[in-house]
Amino acid sequence: MTGIYDDPWAYELACAFRDVPAEVDAVLGWCAGLGGAAPRTVLELAAGPAEHARAFARRGLTATALDLHPAMCAYAARCASDDGVALEVVRDDMTTFALDRRFDVVVTMLDSTSHLMTLDAFTAHLTRAAAHLAPGGLYVLEMSHPRDRIGAEPSVATEWTVERGGVRAAVRWGGEPLDPVTQVADDRVVMTIEEPGAAPRTIRDLVPYRFWSATELDAALRLCGELEKVAQYGDFGPVALDDPEAWRMITVLRAAR
Ligand SMILES: C[S@@+](CC[C@H](N)C(=O)[O-])C[C@H]1O[C@@H](n2cnc3c(N)ncnc32)[C@H](O)[C@@H]1O
Repeated sequence: MTGIYDDPWAYELACAFRDVPAEVDAVLGWCAGLGGAAPRTVLELAAGPAEHARAFARRGLTATALDLHPAMCAYAARCASDDGVALEVVRDDMTTFALDRRFDVVVTMLDSTSHLMTLDAFTAHLTRAAAHLAPGGLYVLEMSHPRDRIGAEPSVATEWTVERGGVRAAVRWGGEPLDPVTQVADDRVVMTIEEPGAAPRTIRDLVPYRFWSATELDAALRLCGELEKVAQYGDFGPVALDDPEAWRMITVLRAAR
C-alpha cells in the first residue's frame, strides 16, 4: 500500500491549505525583528516536498532541504529543478545529521517533530539544529497547538478540501485519541483525489503521531541546553499562543549564550 509520504505530490496537494509564501514572509519578518542581519542561508528540516525551502530560495536565500524519505527528497529536487530554483537536498535523519556548515535560519514546519517518538530523539533533534545555527541565527519550530490534542474540545480529526490546477482532494487526517500513557496516536489519513479524466483514487494511511506539549518542549530545550526561546506565536500572523484564535505553536529559538 502506498502511504501519504510515499506520494509527495499528493502530500503537497493535501497541504495546499497553507499560504507558504506568507509563512516564509513571517519567518523572514521574525528574523529581521529578532535576529538582526538579513538571513542568507536556510536549512529546512523534515522538509518533505520542501515547499518552504523552495520559497526561501525564490527570495534569494541559499536553501538546503533535509528529509529522511527518499521519495520526498527526489520530489523536492525535481520540483526545484522544474521551477529553476537552486535547492540542495540532503537525505538524512533530523536527529543525527551533521552537515559541514551553519545556517542563518533553520526551520521545521508543520509539526514534523511529531515523528520524534521519544524525549531522547526530540532532544537530539534540538541539539543537531543548534549545532547548525550560524552566530545570531534563528531556529523556527512549528508544531501543532496543544489544544488540538488536550484542550476541552480536542480537534483530533480534521477534514478539509483543496483544489489546485483543476485537481480536487478531500482530506481527513487524525481521528484516533492519544494513548494517555505514551502520548502517541496513529493518525488515520484518508485522501480522495479527483483529477479530470481519471477515476477518483484514495490514499489511506496510518501515520504515527507523538504529541509534544508546550511544557515538554521547554523541558527538552532545558535538556538540550544549547537553545533559548526568544518568542512564541500561535500562528504566522500576530497571534499569541494563548489567544483563542491560535492554532499553531511556533517557537523561535537561538543559540543559548
Ligand atoms: C508532516 S511531513 C512535513 C513536511 C514539511 N515539513 C511540510 O511542512 O510540508 C513530515 C516529514 O518528516 C519527515 N521525517 C520523519 N521523520 C524524520 C526524521 N527522523 N528525519 C528527517 N525527516 C523525517 C517525513 O519523511 C516527512 O516528509
